[in-house]
Amino acid sequence: MKLSVSNALGGLLCLSSTSLVAAEQTPLSTPTPIPGQAAPVPKTYGMLLFRGFELLDVFGPLEALSVVARRTKIDLYLLAETLDPVTTEPLMPSMNRFNSSFFPTVNPTHTLADAPDIDVLIVPGGIGTRSPYLNDTIDWIAETYPKVQYLLTVCTGSALVAKSGVLDGRRATTNKASWSSVITFGPNVEWVPKARWVVDGNIWSSSGISAGIDATMAFIEYLYGADNATEIANIMEYERHTDPEWDPFSEIWGVTRA
Ligand SMILES: *[C@@H]1O[C@H](CO)[C@@H](O)[C@H](O)[C@H]1NC(C)=O
Ligand SMILES: *[C@@H]1O[C@H](CO)[C@@H](O)[C@H](O)[C@H]1NC(C)=O
Ligand SMILES: *[C@@H]1O[C@H](CO)[C@@H](O)[C@H](O)[C@H]1NC(C)=O
Repeated sequence: MKLSVSNALGGLLCLSSTSLVAAEQTPLSTPTPIPGQAAPVPKTYGMLLFRGFELLDVFGPLEALSVVARRTKIDLYLLAETLDPVTTEPLMPSMNRFNSSFFPTVNPTHTLADAPDIDVLIVPGGIGTRSPYLNDTIDWIAETYPKVQYLLTVCTGSALVAKSGVLDGRRATTNKASWSSVITFGPNVEWVPKARWVVDGNIWSSSGISAGIDATMAFIEYLYGADNATEIANIMEYERHTDPEWDPFSEIWGVTRA
C-alpha cells in the first residue's frame, strides 16, 4: 500500500513509532466472525478520494484503522477516478478566496474502474462534494455498494452517497454545519438531525469531520470488541464519544429536524 502525502504535511501525519512498540506486542489475531452474524470480519478497505476531499474525513478513520492494521491483516486501497494525485484544493478559485496554498495531495492506488474487491467502502466529505463533475464517482458508489459488506460515510460524504440513491429509505446523518444543503440531495433519506453517527443496516454515516473518528472507533468496537477499541483509542490518546446520540453541534448549527 502506497500512500504519499506532500512533504509539507509529513509532520502532521507522522505518528511516533517508538511509542507504539510496547502496544504492538498484542496482535488482534485471526479475525473472528462477528457475534450473531455469519459474515466474516472485513479485511479490505477502500477509501474513496476526489478533488477537494476533507483531510480529517480521510485520515481520521485511516488513523484508527491503521492501528488495527498493526494487529491484524487488513488492506487499504485508495480509489479515485484516475491515478493522478488527488488534491484537497477546491476546483473553483471562488472556494479559495485568499489564494491559500494549503492543499496536500494523496496518490490513489487504483482507479475506480480497476478497484479490487473491497469489504468496506469509506466515503469522505469535503468541499469537493459540491463539484458537478463527480457523476462517474457517484455512479460507481451505486454499482459498488451491493458488493461491499459495509459502507461508512463521513461528514458531507453522505451527500455523494445520497446522490447515488444508496441512502434511499435509510436513516443517515451528515455534517450539521452543512445540513440544509446536504439533505436536499436525499429527499428519500430519513435524515437524523441529532446524531454523532447513525447505523442503518450495513451503512454507518457520521456527522461532521471529527465524528468520522468516533464512528470508525464504534465500528472497530463492533468488529473487534470493546476492549480492543478502548486499547486502540488509548494508543491514539483519543477520548472517544461512545454515545451515537451525543451531538451538541446539532443545536449549535440550529439543526432540529430534517
Ligand atoms: C481483540 O480482537 C480479537 C479478534 O481479532 C479477539 O480474539 C480478542 O479477544 C480481542 N481482544 C480483546 C481484549 O477483546
Ligand atoms: C496565488 O498564489 C500563488 C502562489 O501560491 C501565486 O503564484 C499566484 O500568482 C497567486 N494568484 C493570485 C491571483 O494572487
Ligand atoms: C451530473 O448528473 C446530474 C444529475 O443527473 C446532471 O444534472 C449534471 O448535469 C451532470 N453533470 C455533468 C457534468 O454531466
